[in-house]
Amino acid sequence: MVQQETRLAPDEIIPRVIGRYSPLVIDHAKGVYIWDTNGDRYLDFTSGIGVVNTGHCHPRVVQAIQEQAAKVIHAQQNIFASEPAMRAAAELTATTPPNLNQVFFTNSGAEAVEGALKLAKYVTGRPAVIAFRGAFHGRTHGAVSVTTSRVKVRAHYEPLLASVYFAPYPYVYRSPYRGGPEDADLHYFHELEQLFDQVVAPEQVAAVLMESVLGEGGYVVPPARWVQNVRRLCSDHGILLIMDEIQSGMGRTGTMWAFEHFGVVPDIMTTAKGIASGMPVSAVVSDRALMDRWAPGAHGTTYGGNPVGTAAAVATFQVIRDEGLLANAARMGERLMAGLRRIQADHPVIGDVRGLGLMVGTEFVMADGAPAPEAAEHVLRECFEHKVLLLTCGTYEQTIRIIPPLIVTAEQIDEFLGIYREAVASL
Ligand SMILES: Cc1ncc(COP(=O)(O)O)c(C=O)c1O
Repeated sequence: MVQQETRLAPDEIIPRVIGRYSPLVIDHAKGVYIWDTNGDRYLDFTSGIGVVNTGHCHPRVVQAIQEQAAKVIHAQQNIFASEPAMRAAAELTATTPPNLNQVFFTNSGAEAVEGALKLAKYVTGRPAVIAFRGAFHGRTHGAVSVTTSRVKVRAHYEPLLASVYFAPYPYVYRSPYRGGPEDADLHYFHELEQLFDQVVAPEQVAAVLMESVLGEGGYVVPPARWVQNVRRLCSDHGILLIMDEIQSGMGRTGTMWAFEHFGVVPDIMTTAKGIASGMPVSAVVSDRALMDRWAPGAHGTTYGGNPVGTAAAVATFQVIRDEGLLANAARMGERLMAGLRRIQADHPVIGDVRGLGLMVGTEFVMADGAPAPEAAEHVLRECFEHKVLLLTCGTYEQTIRIIPPLIVTAEQIDEFLGIYREAVASL
């Protein structure tokens, strides 16, 4: 057999549609750091897009994966139940309100969103879905149909799912409404209510789908009153509220689920990314009363609930609990935000610093307040030169998101802030 040397450049063999942010080829990773194949170390403040909340290769997660892989790798859930999947479901539902008590495991965020939408349509018997402008829910056809973070995500894939309607997400920093920011949420809510008067009758709507905190669309935290009003509107009309916790969940915002900040409870929740510290696991979580109305065979998946993935999920929940990662995320988030606000005070190119816990964004602006994606790109590149990995977000990529693993220390936050200040100052 001919052994082939794999010394190809990534672009020769991986399609460019991926849109890679760095030329690095990763060799290994530990905690808050990754090492490339040249042996250089980088501070990872991307967490692999909010996935490795327990840090890269946490020893307890690694051990759980290794032990489970030696026992059984694939336990197809139409054929048998598996202990790790049931334990992961128990761990998950121990962190959710009482009405989120059954778990349908899937493999990716988009797939969880598909499952949530299908569940809502199936049990309500209604056709329509309301989503919010600027939101990102994934790349499959159904998930793209409810995604409007950037037009390039949707363009060239029409026709998309029918009966999807959009209301504006309360991006108060860029509110087009007159009056102070304190009332902006009411205007945004009014736009949603108006959909029912002008566009779609509420009794046609199966679900309102909301990111608890806008992720790809720019790290926008919604006002609590707006979220509460949306919750009430859904209840008034028998519409199911789906909250997408795929990026904002698993402790990222300093609480296990971001919706806890707003005093609301969804009817259906989606989770993925941080749930298994990097193994491809996601889930649709809802009430047994709803799930019981979803007939056997009406939905399914070959790999969902994979024992190795769900064993990693069990370990992930335990690490978050045992290592006090929610409290650390809240504490480190405050330190990070305070440091960023000090940089903002000296550099008005940062128009807004916002976030919850360790889900933090800095929006770059021109002198007239217009989005400044070139400034964000420059800062990103400067940080990369200093071996710090970051990502942008926002419709114009004008916001840099700062999402270190939840195990990050005060020293690492301070080291980051020093590099970030220099990068912003070099503009
Ligand atoms: C809020 C949200 N929902 C859904 C998704 C899609 O997840 P995946 O890429 O695993 O399909 C993402 C991914 O970034 C996300 O941030």
